[in-house]
Amino acid sequence: MNIDRLVAGLDIGSAKTTAVIAEVVGDLPKHPTVNILGVGQARTTGLRKGVVADIEETQRSITKAMQDAERMAGAQVESVYAGIAGEHVQAMTSTGIASVTGSEITKADVERANAVARAQAIPQDRELIHAIPQEYTVDKNIGIRDPIGMIGTRLETEMYLVTIGSSPAMNLRKAVERAGYKVNELVLEPLASALSVLTDDEKELGVALVEMGAGTTDVAVFHEGKIRHLGTIGYGGLNVTSDLVHGLGVTQADAEKLKEQYGAAFEPLVPHHEKIRLPSTGAQGDREIPRSLLAHIIHQRTQEIFEMVLRDIEQAGLIKKLSAGVVVTGGAAAQPGTADLASEIFGTGARLGVPGEFLGGLSDSVQSPRFSTVTGLVQYGAHRVAIGTSAGKGKRISLSPSAGPSMDNLAARFKTWLQDFW
Ligand SMILES: Nc1ncnc2c1ncn2[C@@H]1O[C@H](COP(=O)(O)OP(=O)(O)OP(=O)(O)O)[C@@H](O)[C@H]1O
Ligand SMILES: [Mg+2]
Repeated sequence: MNIDRLVAGLDIGSAKTTAVIAEVVGDLPKHPTVNILGVGQARTTGLRKGVVADIEETQRSITKAMQDAERMAGAQVESVYAGIAGEHVQAMTSTGIASVTGSEITKADVERANAVARAQAIPQDRELIHAIPQEYTVDKNIGIRDPIGMIGTRLETEMYLVTIGSSPAMNLRKAVERAGYKVNELVLEPLASALSVLTDDEKELGVALVEMGAGTTDVAVFHEGKIRHLGTIGYGGLNVTSDLVHGLGVTQADAEKLKEQYGAAFEPLVPHHEKIRLPSTGAQGDREIPRSLLAHIIHQRTQEIFEMVLRDIEQAGLIKKLSAGVVVTGGAAAQPGTADLASEIFGTGARLGVPGEFLGGLSDSVQSPRFSTVTGLVQYGAHRVAIGTSAGKGKRISLSPSAGPSMDNLAARFKTWLQDFW
């Protein structure tokens, strides 16, 4: 294990906190791959709709998830790439213009144009977390992806700027720091998930990533290889659970179990004659219901959430751009039938998004839709390490740390490339 190449991802969700520790391997800097070394999980109630509401409880879950991951990896880390999401996220496009200094466009010209686009006034209560170049215009030629080397006098860039609320960001950092870790960077959760579950072809053709977590459902739409829209719906798997609590008169814990054991998000999947026994109190007596009733409740709520997502994508004017359909992920997408329902509601193809590509090591441990975000976070971190903007800082447990080759000198020239992966 090369301790300079360790990265940690931390996904603090409304239902659970997940940590993954991985080693960056492969063909650096262009094609880093990650070997999963350790995974840790802890249930939490510290968040409300994706935003930290109880720092102490959040800190406790971080400590547990990180310690479990460290124990499994046999290594400790000092810093993490942490995910952030919620209704406070906003995105906007911004343009920047630069005049071309020489006869052809250089990397410096591109960086100047990008810097102008990035230099937007950000309100006091917001932070800029991602500035993603979309496309360039050289003189009158629009839609250029890589202008370096082209002849022109005027270079215009269009950037996608993502901002988050300062106070949710501050509270998240505080919880991580109190648990004893440094935050390398905050990364938008659906963008992290996109890294782990979407293919380049899907992003090129047009795809909507729909991540159904516990508290929120996050949306990221890609077209022509670029991020075009981000959205958040304030409903998720927890709302499905509460519908079961109210509809069937069971406790929250029992509703979760019923969902996992017998649930389906697409009612036609469940044969009508099947019956299930409901957990009951003495006064309720023995209760049996058709399994299709359970599926009906889950189907209704999931459909309602997908319809909100559909409206959001329609309002962004992108519904006709989803040639590669919809990829559903997040813990709630593990419910059988979720992709069938998504296909019906969006009127496109749909598949389940599960991390897997470009992963080595104990990759089996993250092959489930609830690990999309955390896996994407370590993949993001791996790219950072690969291009040398961050040396992974870890130490082996009970082994004397040996210094690996530093990657700082590796390719500062690839700096802009990192932004290309969204
Ligand atoms: N097998 C399963 N069947 C149905 N639902 C499931 C299953 N596994 C997990 N879920 C649901 O997925 C949700 C948790 O998803 P996830 O772990 O992605 O959420 P989170 O990241 O903690 O929350 P958020 O991203 O909204 O802050 C819970 O509502 C849970 O009931
Ligand atoms: Mg989540």
